[in-house]
Amino acid sequence: MTADKRIVLSSDHAAIQLRQAVAAHIAALGWEVVDIGPTTPESTPYPKHGEAAARLVASGDCRFGVILCGTGQGIMMAANKVKGIRCGVCSDTFSARMIRQHNDANMLSIGARVVGEGLALDILDAFLTAQFEGGRHGPRVDMIMALEG
Ligand code: RB5
Repeated sequence: MTADKRIVLSSDHAAIQLRQAVAAHIAALGWEVVDIGPTTPESTPYPKHGEAAARLVASGDCRFGVILCGTGQGIMMAANKVKGIRCGVCSDTFSARMIRQHNDANMLSIGARVVGEGLALDILDAFLTAQFEGGRHGPRVDMIMALEG
């Protein structure tokens, strides 16, 4: 499968179970899943997992990244430090759709201690089916990216 149908997944220890459910869901939708772990339940710092996933999106190896930690917040902050990444935390489907339509997000973060599996999968569906609208949103996204220097 080509990179435009590939999604990287990562999490910290707080979200392994939800990440596995997300992986199965994404694969069933026809995407190639690159699940970079972790696979064991030991405590592991979320920044390194957010960064690792973000690098695969920034390099173009994966079209999107989905990352998870307890709140979704810490791993999102780490991912957004990688040049080229636009990642939002979503706990509702409206936001998940809008970060694609208006912000051209290339990564989605979910808090495994915030939302249940059913809602998480709906959030994922909203993110993956929405398209960037361009138009007036293009220059705004360009302004975000210009902040990277
Ligand atoms: C881990 O206990 C927790 O801090 C982490 O999963 C996440 O919520 C950080 O933002």
